[in-house]
Amino acid sequence: MTSQSIFPESPEQWLTHETPDDPVYFFYPDRLAATAARFQAGFPGLVTYAVKANPETEVMEVLVASGLTAFDVASVQEMRAARWVSPKSKLNYHNPVRSVSEIEAAHAFGIASWSIDRPSELEKIGDVSGQEISVRLKLPVSGGIYDFGEKFGAPPGLVSHLLKEVVARGGTPSITFHPGTQCHDPDAWARYIAAAAKAAKGAGVRLGRLNVGGGFPAQRGAHPVQLEVIFDTIAKAVKDSFGVDAPDLVCEPGRAMVADAYDLLVRIKALSDGQIYLNDGIYGGLAEWRDIAASDRITLLTPQGTRRTGPTASYRVFGPTCDSIDQLNEPLELPATLSEGDYLLIEGCGAYSHALKTGFNGYGPTRVITMRPRSMGPTRVDDRAP
Ligand SMILES: Cc1ncc(COP(=O)(O)O)c(C=O)c1O
Repeated sequence: MTSQSIFPESPEQWLTHETPDDPVYFFYPDRLAATAARFQAGFPGLVTYAVKANPETEVMEVLVASGLTAFDVASVQEMRAARWVSPKSKLNYHNPVRSVSEIEAAHAFGIASWSIDRPSELEKIGDVSGQEISVRLKLPVSGGIYDFGEKFGAPPGLVSHLLKEVVARGGTPSITFHPGTQCHDPDAWARYIAAAAKAAKGAGVRLGRLNVGGGFPAQRGAHPVQLEVIFDTIAKAVKDSFGVDAPDLVCEPGRAMVADAYDLLVRIKALSDGQIYLNDGIYGGLAEWRDIAASDRITLLTPQGTRRTGPTASYRVFGPTCDSIDQLNEPLELPATLSEGDYLLIEGCGAYSHALKTGFNGYGPTRVITMRPRSMGPTRVDDRAP
């Protein structure tokens, strides 16, 4: 898994013997395995993983060990990342737009499941006999943080047309959709499922599979994430909308699968006049912050790893680069005892953080510390750092 020799039990414990000046990720294999188990126990179909959320080998290894056998890939590099860890894994190539050379590479990887959202991309794939072609449906449905229908997806009428084309060409017709990332509204899935059933019926086509996307939410705010409510809503909507023609279901979570598997530790490198300058920012591990902040998941730690608590103050937060847009869009409420050299431990940074960091200006987290999995047992005396 890693060449690390010491596996700490907590970031606080790790800080008793390290004082990093660069940002650091903590990776929790047990948390990831638990989330994979939660999806597999609750989702009424095949669970795949959207590699884009975090393509690191350590993530893929835990998912494969947890029994995942299929991945949603959007690029040739993601195909490589998946097959590197799991040579026999099934890959669903669910980026609806591709170049001719990407299609050739996908064939070389043995891709047998593709998504499309327009006639020209179906044409480009060429011979689809024996291939699953999932037509991507888009609806004006809110619930996610971004509107995923803005870039990809076909309206229901075009979906029906494309399904018929797929059948005429000898392909297996399926539908896929994505309700938008960090979607808390189970009803968004229900509306998509009803529209998918209508589009299939309109085309006179029986779907091979229905892929209900990613979009599942990760923990943000006080309320626990209700994944099981979403799973149950999906099962009921499929039964109500498709009846005896119910297709096999697939999901491809990215964010909800991996978000909790990493924490990010960033350091306060300067403090003045109610402003703090961190050693990481929007070009690094906090790339998503302006859209999906984790303000409620921050713990302030001293350089020795003890928690600071007590009355808070409001701080404007800047990242380390020379770019003035490298700042958080809202001030953070942090304990007023905050000092230069302290750390912010930010939970839930496993998705779209490591994957989006740029290295701009020479900054950005590069170090990942794997936390002690339960299978290793408690820390032994000789495990402790000097
Ligand atoms: C086709 C597809 N599937 C799955 C995902 C994963 O979405 P999420 O991270 O919201 O679960 C994405 C994200 O962009 C996507 O484009």
